[in-house]
Amino acid sequence: MKPDMKRAIFPGSFDPLTMGHLDIIERSTSLFDELVIAVLNNPDKNPMFSPEERCEMIEEVLADFNSGDCRLVVESFSGLLVNYVKSKNATSIIRGIRAVSDYEYERRMALMNKRLAPEIETVFLMASEEYSYVSSRLLKQVFLLDGRVDGLVPKLIVDRLRSKNGG
Ligand SMILES: Nc1ncnc2c1ncn2[C@@H]1O[C@H](COP(=O)(O)OP(=O)(O)OP(=O)(O)O)[C@@H](O)[C@H]1O
Ligand SMILES: [Mg+2]
Repeated sequence: MKPDMKRAIFPGSFDPLTMGHLDIIERSTSLFDELVIAVLNNPDKNPMFSPEERCEMIEEVLADFNSGDCRLVVESFSGLLVNYVKSKNATSIIRGIRAVSDYEYERRMALMNKRLAPEIETVFLMASEEYSYVSSRLLKQVFLLDGRVDGLVPKLIVDRLRSKNGG
């Protein structure tokens, strides 16, 4: 990586990737030279998809995604976020804010991360209005109760939700 290159980390569970996540990814590509979508390995959260499955789905979705001059990387991580960010020589953490409920949690995390690693900046992007109510958790709830989630996740993810849950 060239010394003036700006690399950002977009961390999350992505269980699974939603259009809300994709919107944040798309908008971040115009701000950075490289964006690492970092899938948290969080077995305690009892995820529907393994970290490997989540990474693979994101890669597949991003395969036909025009990210312009920004390089997109997908990988999983575990442990303290700032340690991971430092290990990648990244300058920024990207987070999306949907509502006041996100804000309070994100404020605490950003301030703690600032204390742990003052050189790393957290960059907040306001959720786009059309997806501001979408979360992976709500989406999975609706899907498991046979509700329609088309349009809120990429088509490929709808298929993977179906095959994961018995057709
Ligand atoms: N619809 C959305 N619009 C904008 N940002 C979003 C959206 N959904 C998630 N994000 C952001 O993406 C990042 C990763 O979030 P995360 O993986 O926890 O997704 P989530 O949808 O909140 O999942 P969960 O329901 O499991 O918590 C966070 O910064 C979160 O605020
Ligand atoms: Mg969340």
